Amino acid sequence: MKVLIAHIAAWIFSKMQGAELFLILRALRRAGHAIASSATFGPRVQLRIDSRATFSVGERSQVLHDSWIIAHPANVLAIGSDVFISQHCTISGNVRIGSGTLIGGFVTIIDGNHAFDDVHTPIREQGGRQLPIDIGTDVWIGAHAIVLQGVRIGDGAVIAANATVTRDVPAGAIVGGTPARVIRMRGTK
Ligand SMILES: CC(C)(COP(=O)(O)OP(=O)(O)OC[C@H]1O[C@@H](n2cnc3c(N)ncnc32)[C@H](O)[C@@H]1OP(=O)(O)O)[C@@H](O)C(=O)NCCC(=O)NCCS
Repeated sequence: MKVLIAHIAAWIFSKMQGAELFLILRALRRAGHAIASSATFGPRVQLRIDSRATFSVGERSQVLHDSWIIAHPANVLAIGSDVFISQHCTISGNVRIGSGTLIGGFVTIIDGNHAFDDVHTPIREQGGRQLPIDIGTDVWIGAHAIVLQGVRIGDGAVIAANATVTRDVPAGAIVGGTPARVIRMRGTK
């Protein structure tokens, strides 16, 4: 009996979460954000979009469960069409993701850094800065990779699992490691 009650409670809770996401999507669309009706968002996806940010998602793009998408005031966060964002990803700030790009699970893409040069002031009081991240079309980003601020990833590039991308990636390159370096160019094996 207790198991049945637990299942019913979990079902009600999941429906409530779905309703919350539905309401957030509706509010964002009404506020003018271009979120395609064919785009889908999995359970527990968090859309933390400030009212002064610009957010867009193209046709047929998918965001899987437990991913967070965050845009602060004045940020432009643009996800193209046919983009696949797997589970537990974090995408935050001024980020453009080109159409057809695939993003593996647990990937982090954040355009911000804390300032820390003043050794006499706590880092938390030094503010920070954002530099936009630009990801091309038909890119594949492996699981657990992190893309740091200001990085541009060229069209058709492949980012290996667990990479830390600190510098621009040429179109068609395969990069891996921490910091990510070019392993080879696609089509040269
Ligand atoms: C990078 C990747 C695509 C393979 O590319 P590849 O060109 O076929 O690579 P190879 O297996 O021939 O390896 C080439 C070199 O890269 C290295 N390498 C491969 N994957 C790596 C990784 N994730 N990090 C660091 N180095 C890596 C190999 O050790 C090898 O190094 P070596 O030449 O010194 O021996 C693959 O390893 C990978 O990381 N895929 C992501 C998988 C994933 O995240 N899936 C889930 C999300 S959809």
